[in-house]
Amino acid sequence: MSFSQSSGESVIPPALPRHVAVIMDGNGRWAQKRLLSRIFGHEKGAEAVRAVVRTCRELGIPFLTLYAFSTENWQRPQMEIDALMGLLRRFVDAEGAELIEKNIRLKVIGTIERLPADLQASLRRLMGDTAANSALQLNLALSYGGRDEITRAARAIARRVQAGTLNPESITEETLADHLDTRGIPDPDILIRTGGEMRISNFLLWQAAYAEIFVTPTLWPDFGRESLLRVFEEFQQRERRFGRV
Ligand code: IPE
Ligand code: IPE
Ligand code: MG
Repeated sequence: MSFSQSSGESVIPPALPRHVAVIMDGNGRWAQKRLLSRIFGHEKGAEAVRAVVRTCRELGIPFLTLYAFSTENWQRPQMEIDALMGLLRRFVDAEGAELIEKNIRLKVIGTIERLPADLQASLRRLMGDTAANSALQLNLALSYGGRDEITRAARAIARRVQAGTLNPESITEETLADHLDTRGIPDPDILIRTGGEMRISNFLLWQAAYAEIFVTPTLWPDFGRESLLRVFEEFQQRERRFGRV
């Protein structure tokens, strides 16, 4: 990434995103290309997670959201689901201390109640232990689906209307946003998808309304610091118009 300024120009810091969201796709293909089981791809993918978290922390990006397991991923073979849950357990055990030490706050978005009870408990503990951290907020999307999230928000809003504490006419876009799992988090500026598929796969349907989209053919286990820096460089060249001229 070039932060260099030509001499004489005023020093305007290059615009970095406030919130980066990533669809971490391609673990299975990475493994299959090497005639390995898909599980190896997920294990290798966990290393890419570490590299991307560290890079965002270093650059001072305030929010990073990683799509780790979708509501649809529950339809995968049980063996693969079990392996992914095992990897998540290992991530919490192995990275918990680093998150605390590096001042990183962990938040889970998605239907955490669907995860195995022990994993839920350790995730909740780590969320509690990192709640006051402020260098980077790492949102892990687990058992997450954008439609599921919006449906849960609709239910919560309907309960308030039924209780008589909310007037339907006063419901705004802010009301909806305040009932999503991402309440209080700015919308993503950048949505990255690795693995080359040109689809959103039920990720951040509401929040990504004006995200700049980057699809790279790089498979997730091969994605790292350099790939992320290239995305940021390209982001700085984009003109965001938000519907204006
Ligand atoms: C993404 O990699 C990780 C998860 C969805 C959990 P995939 O497992 O989808 O890998 P491909 O897309 O089959 O290569
Ligand atoms: C999206 O990848 C979900 C995650 C990365 C967690 P998928 O591999 O599940 O998406 P599809 O099936 O290609 O749409
Ligand atoms: Mg995939």
